[in-house]
Amino acid sequence: MSRGPSTPVGVFPQTRMRRNRRWDWSRRLVRENTLTPDDLIWPVFVCEGTDHIEPVPTMPGVVRYSPDRLPAAVAEAKALGIPAVAIFPATPASAKSPGAEEAWNPDNLVCQAVRAIKDAHPDMGVMCDVALDPFNSDGHDGIVRDGHVENDETLEALCRQALVQVEAGCDVIAPSDMMDGRIGVLREALDSEGHEKVLLMSYAAKYSSGFYGPFRDAIESKGFLKGETKDTYQMDPANTDEALREVALDIEEGADMVMVKPGLPYLDIVYRVKERFGVPTFAYNVSGEYAMLRIAADNGALDYDRVVLESLMAFKRAGCNGVLTYFAVDAARLLHDS
Ligand code: PBG
Repeated sequence: MSRGPSTPVGVFPQTRMRRNRRWDWSRRLVRENTLTPDDLIWPVFVCEGTDHIEPVPTMPGVVRYSPDRLPAAVAEAKALGIPAVAIFPATPASAKSPGAEEAWNPDNLVCQAVRAIKDAHPDMGVMCDVALDPFNSDGHDGIVRDGHVENDETLEALCRQALVQVEAGCDVIAPSDMMDGRIGVLREALDSEGHEKVLLMSYAAKYSSGFYGPFRDAIESKGFLKGETKDTYQMDPANTDEALREVALDIEEGADMVMVKPGLPYLDIVYRVKERFGVPTFAYNVSGEYAMLRIAADNGALDYDRVVLESLMAFKRAGCNGVLTYFAVDAARLLHDS
């Protein structure tokens, strides 16, 4: 994004900034950014069972769907013009293990969800997270040995995980694990199995954040993490230059799109990434950001409709091509109504 030459500044009273703001039509004419349903990716949670929907307690308004209930939910998103969904599983405790083998079970919840959605809606984009935390009894994104998350051993597991997801019909592999070298090995693993058309959206600059709290409730991984942090692989919230190095490496290794996460508290990172690299750039408006607005609105402190659209516009202003957001369906509906 180029900001162009600096704008000439006039002198009062000849220059009255309020003139352009006077009418709805003039405000529309000078509007610099637009938000449409095309900008939205909807993250959905999937749980075991049939004909089952259950609430996520710390994310009022968000639910987990059994795989058979997903096609109807996705039909609504599709009708509103949302291009893609991202799938996250609440794996039952009995299927979690220290080796996270369930991650590459071709019949795991993620694969069931992908097949259900793709059978019903072949033209809907489906993204799958690649990381071991939903399947790992340690609650970490990688395999733990002697208290340490092992990088290279985890890479092998991630490749196996990605392959079952792609074989189930997933279009976009989105690694969120922050292991070093993962984009390169995933690209190679996919290509060597004939999946060169599958996209890679890298969670390139993913911070070790307290804003993921409600998500860890939604996938029921929090208890397994036993109060530990992910500081040895996710980024330090104090750093910016390091994010640019992460993004540069992921682009070099073959990422088609990059992501910054969390979203609103990290828009400075989005701005620098987009300015520096000019690649398709996304942000994840994470569970804690959703909960903050939603719970404040439910308590009468904020106007939900306004703050949802205002927040999502902030991502566009910062340079995002799109946003992963739990507000996607509500926002798309609001955009259609307005
Ligand atoms: C797991 C993963 C996380 C999120 C997406 N993928 C949580 C984490 O890293 O602990 C967070 C999403 C959200 O908070 O909405 N690798």
